[in-house]
Amino acid sequence: MRALVTGAAGFIGSTLAEKLHATGWTVTGLDNLSTYYDPKFKQRNIRSAGDAITRFVEADIRSAPLDDLVADADVVFHLAGQPGVRKSWGDSFADYVDANISATQVLLESVHRSSSRPRVVYASSSSVYGDAEAYPTREDLEPRPRSPYGVTKLAAEHLCRLYAANHGLSTVSLRFFTVYGPRQRPDMAFTRFLSAALEGDPISVYGTGEQTRDFTFVDDIVEAVARAATAEVSPGSVYNVSGGGSHSVNDVLDVIEKLVNRPLDVRRSAPAVGDVQRTSADTSAIARDLDWRASTDLTAGLAAQLEWVRRGR
Ligand SMILES: NC(=O)c1ccc[n+]([C@@H]2O[C@H](COP(=O)([O-])OP(=O)(O)OC[C@H]3O[C@@H](n4cnc5c(N)ncnc54)[C@H](O)[C@@H]3O)[C@@H](O)[C@H]2O)c1
Repeated sequence: MRALVTGAAGFIGSTLAEKLHATGWTVTGLDNLSTYYDPKFKQRNIRSAGDAITRFVEADIRSAPLDDLVADADVVFHLAGQPGVRKSWGDSFADYVDANISATQVLLESVHRSSSRPRVVYASSSSVYGDAEAYPTREDLEPRPRSPYGVTKLAAEHLCRLYAANHGLSTVSLRFFTVYGPRQRPDMAFTRFLSAALEGDPISVYGTGEQTRDFTFVDDIVEAVARAATAEVSPGSVYNVSGGGSHSVNDVLDVIEKLVNRPLDVRRSAPAVGDVQRTSADTSAIARDLDWRASTDLTAGLAAQLEWVRRGR
């Protein structure tokens, strides 16, 4: 099987490339090495993925030779995007529209034009829910994002669904719940916390730390993504992918304190605008249709990420 992975130099995309390669896929990676965070981390991800990425194309989706890349793929894994809730306000919203909505539309058009019409597996987000109507949250509840980022992720999900409904494309959207593990982006909480804990530096936490998240280890995420590539599912379908626990940020800090075996210097700041108080997924649909369940608990996953941070990322 031949994969086109967009966002292949990123945290999840590079991990997915390795997973696919290990199970016999040939992987072409596409990534523009955007400067949302230091591209040296992305170069490192590509180096770490080694020969898992047979061909790497450094280009923006909107100007890449997409028709050729799509023609050579049995499945397109669309992980490229502009992440981050907090930076999505203000002037930078335009970057979110470009990378998350426009780039997805350009990709779907290319798949629509192609004769092979590969399946598209899209990396959506729990951010589409905002403060959800109910917990654990099912896919059929009305999404009400609380951040501009969530709005753009939801818009791209709608694009996937309508290209499926109107043009018969085989799309699957997976709503990832806060992903962590080796290669986690430098702007994300666990990488910041673990680096500071090892250095003995202050750890900055938004709000009280009582906000809870359904954290998901990256190996569990890429297993779900790989299953979505071949599972028999309805076109346009949407699934939650989550670790299945409910942990506060303070719980996470407790685990880190035990792992590094020293007291942490935690400093609290104002809550971040657009952050929700709670996320918690109902994963019965993905368990039923993809036979997928998370298998890594928070302590084991944090220990793996700590090892990676200790090795110098
Ligand atoms: N990390 C999480 O907790 C999380 C949660 C929910 C959803 N997601 C989604 O999963 C995907 C991957 O997230 P990540 O954490 O690995 O982020 P990441 O920033 O590490 O990876 C995304 C990659 O996409 C590339 N990219 C961005 N715009 C592009 C464009 N126009 N053309 C080509 N490449 C482009 C970037 O250079 C980057 O390497 C994103 O779509 C994100 O929205 C992530």
